Amino acid sequence: MCGIVGYIGKRDAQDVLLSGLRRLEYRGYDSAGIVTIDGSNQATLLRANGKVAELGKLVSTNQNKDSVGIGHTRWATHGEPSEINAHPHRAGDIYVVHNGIIENYKELKAELKDHTFVSGTDTEVLAALINSFYGVDTSLCDAVSKALQLVVGTYGIAVVSTRQPDEVVVARAGSPLIIGVGKDETLIASDASALIGHTSQAIYLNDGEMAICRRDGVELQDLNSQPISAQVETIEVDMQAIQKQGYDHFLLKEISEQPQTLRSTLNGRVIVEDKRIQLGGLNLTVEQLKDIEHVTIIGCGTAYYAGLLASYYLEQLVDNLTVEVVIASEFRYRSFYMPKNSVALVVSQSGETADTLACLREVKRRGVTTLGIINAVGSTIAREVDGGVYVHAGPEISVASTKAFTSQVAALTMFGVQVAQAKGVSVQRTAQYVEELALLPDEIEKVITTHQKEMAEVAKKYASYDHALFLGRDTLFPVALEGALKLKEISYIQAEGYATGELKHGPIALLDDRFFEVVLLMEGWLFDKSISGLSEINARGGHVLAITNSAKEIDAETVVRVDTKLDILAPIALNVLQQLFAYYIAVARGNDVDQPRNLAKSVTVE
Ligand code: G6P
Repeated sequence: MCGIVGYIGKRDAQDVLLSGLRRLEYRGYDSAGIVTIDGSNQATLLRANGKVAELGKLVSTNQNKDSVGIGHTRWATHGEPSEINAHPHRAGDIYVVHNGIIENYKELKAELKDHTFVSGTDTEVLAALINSFYGVDTSLCDAVSKALQLVVGTYGIAVVSTRQPDEVVVARAGSPLIIGVGKDETLIASDASALIGHTSQAIYLNDGEMAICRRDGVELQDLNSQPISAQVETIEVDMQAIQKQGYDHFLLKEISEQPQTLRSTLNGRVIVEDKRIQLGGLNLTVEQLKDIEHVTIIGCGTAYYAGLLASYYLEQLVDNLTVEVVIASEFRYRSFYMPKNSVALVVSQSGETADTLACLREVKRRGVTTLGIINAVGSTIAREVDGGVYVHAGPEISVASTKAFTSQVAALTMFGVQVAQAKGVSVQRTAQYVEELALLPDEIEKVITTHQKEMAEVAKKYASYDHALFLGRDTLFPVALEGALKLKEISYIQAEGYATGELKHGPIALLDDRFFEVVLLMEGWLFDKSISGLSEINARGGHVLAITNSAKEIDAETVVRVDTKLDILAPIALNVLQQLFAYYIAVARGNDVDQPRNLAKSVTVE
């Protein structure tokens, strides 16, 4: 979603800001802009609708040597995507970039009669509000803090003034902001990836904090101007991890690197010799794990589906454990009840998803223990949970989530085994999970190497359909949902996931020659029942792509067979094939694979 960058130092601010915005492109956006200020208090404001490349063209014809400025990529919430609505927004001498939503912007706007509004954004209201407090004797920082005390909503902001060109003021409430501390320079970013290559030293702003950033340092304070001591941390992501490394798209890179990312997820946690799992960061004693009676898994999008798949494993592993999987944006506002001895597992790749974060806070408010299954180290959710498991999948740049899903399922399954161990479940029952977890990286590697070309060919066959139905039973039901999500996100083919058993309760009415159907089939006790679903589709002239780990004869238009040692965890392998399938369909349709239209990687507004 929206991205913020800022710079104050000795280098050309335009270059630093532009390269920072390029790094944030993956988050999804529809316009971009920067403002820089020179030594004689003049501002250069450049904004463009569309890609950062468009802004780059503007910069190349308006280059300057200014060494302070702020920049933004905007994902429209209030007001259409356009140059006039792009940030930074100006009011008087100040310029503001903003992530988040000012909920009371209409009330505030009604009071700001001295400002002539030119955009349809809530951010311009914030700029005008700050400006209304920015009298001749007021510092920029004081004006910002006074304004923010009137604001209801979420924000990460960076503010500059032509009157005080030696500082950038930033503040945060619900939308991430990181300050990079360099030598004679300070950088600002809403996402650590924009800081990589500049500095590894960073201050993560907490909600309710603001900072005055100067060339030679940073001053932190709360909204009441009380000083706060800054904690400088080291960012551990390297440059390689955020580059394509020869792949055509980040998505293909991220699908391909799953064997390695899984190894990082499992490393040191799967103790094969003892058939045990050892998770370090749960911050729960064996006694507390043993007492868990109810688990609520919370997430959005792909993270929700990872939770749904893992819920089957948790139920299979532990008797007398109730497991519910909830969509964060729904659960947060329901009058839900979580019984005593509940644990909430909060699943998020970015660790910044606003719905998931809001849900986490509500659950915490009710005194429930919260654990994070998070990829982004140092993210807001990771900081606010009581404990958890970092999935260590490395930066996921492509909007569609792939490697994070696989690692989330692995991490949640490890959690299930650890709870089972604590509850005294027999090793016979947990051993197969531990063994299959240990096998997972090599097996996924085999699946990718063996089937990549085949999936590229199969994708060509189905790339021109308008609709798709994904069907699976049991653990393949969440995989069907995830397969449909992946396809719709990047191919724009209308795709729905259903439990195979539900086929005849509605979706079968849809089927015609504009549809193809992906039927997921696994060896096991539900195989024959799943075949019935397939036959019902065949009987109506369907176009079925069957993906299976079975060697049995299957009557379908196309069959992709996976030869894998995985059994319980085979759904993860079948899902990897779906990822490749969706990827090659999107490529065949000529889509922007890594940044699909209208989507954002990290959805930081509710
Ligand atoms: C967005 C992304 C999805 C992702 C979801 C949850 O919708 O486009 O790919 O699954 O957010 O994100 P999270 O970072 O919380 O896992």
